[in-house]
Amino acid sequence: MCGIFGCVLKEGNAAPLIHAALKRLEYRGYDSVGIATIHREEIFVKKDQGKIDEVHKLVNLDDMPGSLGIGHTRWATHGAPLKVNAHPHTDCTGQIEVVHNGIIENFIELKAELEEAGHKFVSRTDTEVFAHLVEDAYKRNSDFTLVQAVLHAIKRVDGSYAFAVISSREPDKIVCARNESPLVLGVSENAVYCASDLTAFLPLTKKAVMINDGELVVLTPGKYEIRKIQDNTAINREPSVIDWSPEMAVKKGYPHFMIKEIHEQPETLRSTLRMQEHYLELISTFLDRATEVFLIACGTSYHACLAASYMFSKLAFLPTYPVYASEFVEQHGKSVNIDSTILAVSQSGETADTLGAVTCAQQRAATILGLTNTIGSTLTRVSRVYIGQQSGPEIGVAATKTFTSQLSVMAQVALKLSKKRGKISQDEMDDLADRMEKLPETVEAIILTQEKKIKAIAKKYRDAKIFFFLGRGINTATAYEGRLKLMEIAYVPAIAYPAGESKHGPISLIEPGFPVVFVCPKDGQTHKTLIGNIQEMKARGAAIISIVEEGDEEIKAMSDDYVEVPKGIPEVLSPIPYVVPLQLLAYYMAVERGINPDTPRNLAKSVTVK
Ligand code: AGP
Repeated sequence: MCGIFGCVLKEGNAAPLIHAALKRLEYRGYDSVGIATIHREEIFVKKDQGKIDEVHKLVNLDDMPGSLGIGHTRWATHGAPLKVNAHPHTDCTGQIEVVHNGIIENFIELKAELEEAGHKFVSRTDTEVFAHLVEDAYKRNSDFTLVQAVLHAIKRVDGSYAFAVISSREPDKIVCARNESPLVLGVSENAVYCASDLTAFLPLTKKAVMINDGELVVLTPGKYEIRKIQDNTAINREPSVIDWSPEMAVKKGYPHFMIKEIHEQPETLRSTLRMQEHYLELISTFLDRATEVFLIACGTSYHACLAASYMFSKLAFLPTYPVYASEFVEQHGKSVNIDSTILAVSQSGETADTLGAVTCAQQRAATILGLTNTIGSTLTRVSRVYIGQQSGPEIGVAATKTFTSQLSVMAQVALKLSKKRGKISQDEMDDLADRMEKLPETVEAIILTQEKKIKAIAKKYRDAKIFFFLGRGINTATAYEGRLKLMEIAYVPAIAYPAGESKHGPISLIEPGFPVVFVCPKDGQTHKTLIGNIQEMKARGAAIISIVEEGDEEIKAMSDDYVEVPKGIPEVLSPIPYVVPLQLLAYYMAVERGINPDTPRNLAKSVTVK
């Protein structure tokens, strides 16, 4: 998730305006920034790694000529956050500049083709490929207009994109296009704008035009044209007036970042499913060859490791050991060795306990693998191989979308491993891969159909003094995560246990009305035994809140309250959709108790935007 912006002014310099707009988009990405403007058919570019204020101090982003330009603030997915990978990207002639938000899935193949044809690449990004594709279109037909060249290039791209393209060959226009990445136009007396979201231009105009997937836009002074990419036919669409404050816009109209990020999960899960095969292949090869595998992390990331240990065992028969990073040195510091492989998981890539455990293992020659959301973070620098999970920046202190993305990556790695090890049939693998593709829609359906209900459940139990979260098998991790969210966001004391453990002590806490949350997917071996656990708790007067599969009448009948998850979720993938109701419960419990979910006391995100 990056932020793109473009503007065509009737008069005046575009650069200061682009700079200010990128600042408003900085929550979408903040590891590098760049601007390109056109003046008298000459292109001017300023870009560098770092946050906007740091780069501005170095290069003065306001001091560029021209009333037309594009800009970008980056959240790296392909290529470390270095100047060479910062946008905009150009072609061999330097006549074309491109900014992009999204992922070009087939960029490796396209890059090889273009290099074969003599193109020279300078960055490791997927985006640079698009600038060369536009150049290549001109090579194929020198009569092409910029729009035709961009359309030709788009037809060769697979993946998600919002592009903005300028060219010194046609210095009076910006051509932009959208497929699955957000794009919106702003219209004012003196200017037309394109942006990843209206936050960027809201202080300048309240008149916005939403752009849909499969649409291309041409911006010229005082004018915008929308066309269908498929057949280049024109589309008429009038601006609508947005009555949001800039603050509201950053949260896209949501009251808090946490609820916004919970609602973003369908989009981030789609983005995580666009993982480069190459990296999945590499990580699964290292795991396949490993003698022993430790999965280390803290907090929510540790819960992703715990769930992954079930996935690797069930799908690939690979035993792995999830360890709290803060305990790793004490627990394994003496035994970890050259035959050990560490998969360290950290969305920020900067958590001290996780890096401390990695350093300990590294000093004993272990192999370090990484899973992170922050390309360029310390974890990416100390890892032999790492995967960027592509969730985009997470502002809320509570990890939500980064957790479901971590689980999605782990499941994709586990599927790769099961293929390598031939532990499950091709049909089973295809079926699981197919179900994974459907998970974004599943999460969308849960939010759409169950959010109100969860809000009412939070209201009903807002004064509860303590909560229990119970799950079995892989959903022990889901129960742990539900507990962590409720504690850290709503300050409600909570206990989580593998349900089978509860009768070995904790059940003594149960008294009438004591809320116990059960995570109960229908698939797998755990459903039956969970019913027994529910009966044990119910017999002692507990209030049963169950997360069940749609139509699971047996458990619904035993529950005081229940939330339904769509049918057909394989148990090994179930933590991804089944954790969403628990995220929402924690959020609404905090709101009910008058707590700001974005800034829980005593906590901070490892890395924040200043
Ligand atoms: C999660 O909501 C918490 N903010 C916290 O437990 C977090 O998961 C933990 O600090 C690990 O962070 P990391 O993934 O950035 O390493």
